[in-house]
Amino acid sequence: MQENGHQRVSLVTCTAPVNIAVIKYWGKRDEDLILPVNASLSVTLHQDQLKTTTTVACSRSFQRDRIWLNGREEDISHPRLQSCLQEIRRLARKRRSAGDHSPDISSMSHKLHVCSVNNFPTAAGLASSAAGYACLVYALARLFGVEGELSSIARQGSGSACRSLYGGFVQWNLGERPDGTDSLAEQVAPESSWPELRVLILVVSAEQKSVGSTSGMHTSVETSQLLKHRADAVVPGRMEQMRRAIRQRDFQTFGELTMKDSNQFHAVCLDTYPPIFYLNHVSQQIITLVHHYNQHHGETKVAYTFDAGPNAVIYTLQEHLPEFLQLLRLVFPSEVPEEEFVRGLPVSPAELSEEL
Ligand code: DP6
Repeated sequence: MQENGHQRVSLVTCTAPVNIAVIKYWGKRDEDLILPVNASLSVTLHQDQLKTTTTVACSRSFQRDRIWLNGREEDISHPRLQSCLQEIRRLARKRRSAGDHSPDISSMSHKLHVCSVNNFPTAAGLASSAAGYACLVYALARLFGVEGELSSIARQGSGSACRSLYGGFVQWNLGERPDGTDSLAEQVAPESSWPELRVLILVVSAEQKSVGSTSGMHTSVETSQLLKHRADAVVPGRMEQMRRAIRQRDFQTFGELTMKDSNQFHAVCLDTYPPIFYLNHVSQQIITLVHHYNQHHGETKVAYTFDAGPNAVIYTLQEHLPEFLQLLRLVFPSEVPEEEFVRGLPVSPAELSEEL
């Protein structure tokens, strides 16, 4: 608590990590509740390199709820933001009716100020909404003293955000209930279970993506038959195989499935009408390079995955990292400044944390 004039200001600052899916979420069966058409699975990245930091403050002295993203004020009335705020306030009220007698800072008499910053370019399409909503929901929960399952709230901000609430390897369950209460994220394995795994982000372009995930997947659901086939006949089996590969630290299977799933997601984008192109010629060069490299070694040593943009995320093991980095520098010597192009990200403890 801090004093602001005569009014108290309660504030909490938290950080949350980015996650990169190896089985992609693409398509909603319910757009309001953000319920997916298929389950997905991701790896939560280390917070040193990519993270969101959010401060939430509330006080009677604030006139209205407000939010700033990377220093710029944004519209707090955005429906997804409102879903998260209302749901957290509802849970806070529920907790209070269970016998809490401290001042009710979650009531509408106290207004919220939210300030959120990314330590990476938001425009680069590096899952900023995932870390952003996970951080917002976690910080609000800390502020209002809400405990328990938060992934269903973060999910209503941005689908992939629910996976950023856990570290390590995380799945987002499809769920069956129409109200979405069973479409939650859960940890498949902790980061410590596969310490040799490494992630590289290759920033091919820092430009804003041409078609956002939300509208892109909406059009895919409307028009792509491949999306339906993927959701019904492909992903359930892949989820099973992926969980097994992670638990057995089987990089061959993990890498192959990761690449195939990325390719199928981009095939769905191409099958969307009108088609969506997220990959560019540099992305395609990276794909070819990875396959040549793996073929040369006779095994899958390196795997790529691409989200809704041209930037590549490379998964590999520590023992292969120096050689592959050398190869990247050889093939892409000066096209993009190296420090922007290659970021080495060890996957290690990536829990949400509260900054004191
Ligand atoms: C390609 O979670 O950004 O990164 O739920 O509409 O906010 P909304 O979409 P979002 O979609 C992410 C799609 C993806 C794949 C993934 O992260 O699983």
